[in-house]
Amino acid sequence: MAESFAAVQWNKGMLTLLDQRKLPQELIYLDYDSCHEVADAITNMVVRGAPAIGIAAAYAVVFAARHAYQEDIENWRKLIEPALQYLADARPTAVNLSWAIAEMRQAFDEITGDPEHYLLEQAKRIHQDDIAANQQMGRLGAELIQPNSHVLTHCNAGALATGGYGTALGVIRSAYQKGLIDHVYASETRPWMQGARLTSWELQQDAIPVSLVIDSAAATLMHSGTVQWLIVGSDRIAANGDAANKIGTYSHAVNAKHHGIKVMVVAPSSTVDMSLESGSQIPIEHRTASEITAIQQMPVAPKNMDAINPAFDVTPAELIDAIVTEKGVVNKPDTEKMRSVFH
Ligand code: MRU
Repeated sequence: MAESFAAVQWNKGMLTLLDQRKLPQELIYLDYDSCHEVADAITNMVVRGAPAIGIAAAYAVVFAARHAYQEDIENWRKLIEPALQYLADARPTAVNLSWAIAEMRQAFDEITGDPEHYLLEQAKRIHQDDIAANQQMGRLGAELIQPNSHVLTHCNAGALATGGYGTALGVIRSAYQKGLIDHVYASETRPWMQGARLTSWELQQDAIPVSLVIDSAAATLMHSGTVQWLIVGSDRIAANGDAANKIGTYSHAVNAKHHGIKVMVVAPSSTVDMSLESGSQIPIEHRTASEITAIQQMPVAPKNMDAINPAFDVTPAELIDAIVTEKGVVNKPDTEKMRSVFH
């Protein structure tokens, strides 16, 4: 089933991003044709979600190459570097960003002449591969779910966060179509409200029954036996299976463990970072305090209030029942099992 919207689209030499800051009230698309602007769109959350960030970055490399080649056809590979660095620094936690830049960079040596066509093909391949990976993860993840399940998801790991279909929401879509999931609970996800604004909207588009809960209602929901699975995406998975995801995921996973509820992390192999031994090495983005001292520009805390605003947390592997990737499912992840799938 194809979505009626696309978070990231290549359109006549430009990149079109759905402005996710405005959803669900407004469906606004913005056009980009420079690497710098796309990097800023990533930092400012126009496009968000680890795989979607990676795909947007791949297209941004096309712009960087276009401009560097226009400046100097001989030395474009050197001239492109500051733009690629700026892009890589846009957000630190999702490894898909640096992964996509590295994938694009691999092609540089083979290129003769104008790099644009060649790099655009690469970016489109990254985009298409992500959609195919999501569909495969959807199939694999659904196999783990019992009929009549109710599930909780956090943040947005759907079509909006990827090339299409989604990771955690891909599993939910697939399991719902197979009649395995009866109901979804979306936690609202302070402070950017990805659950309230994006996941709720996406699931409504597909007529999948969804109820919104505040983040701190999750434990009560679990205690009452309402949900059987916590299903989430990830921004970076370390070699031992520790998984970084939106702040609040760890708290949900601790609660899930206490209540005997299973935890599934769904992410493409581009989110796996085997260079990091454990989650303690994952860089965690800290965002500005004003994101939590005000709600939609309305102050909710005293003036000059100090605040700590980590955007992600790390769920230790021991709290995870299954990591679902397009390359296979890692049950009860540890370093050995991860290494057997990701070399
Ligand atoms: O800050 P965001 O909205 O980019 O955070 C997104 C998440 O944490 C998602 O759960 C994660 O990127 C997986 S998206 C398939």
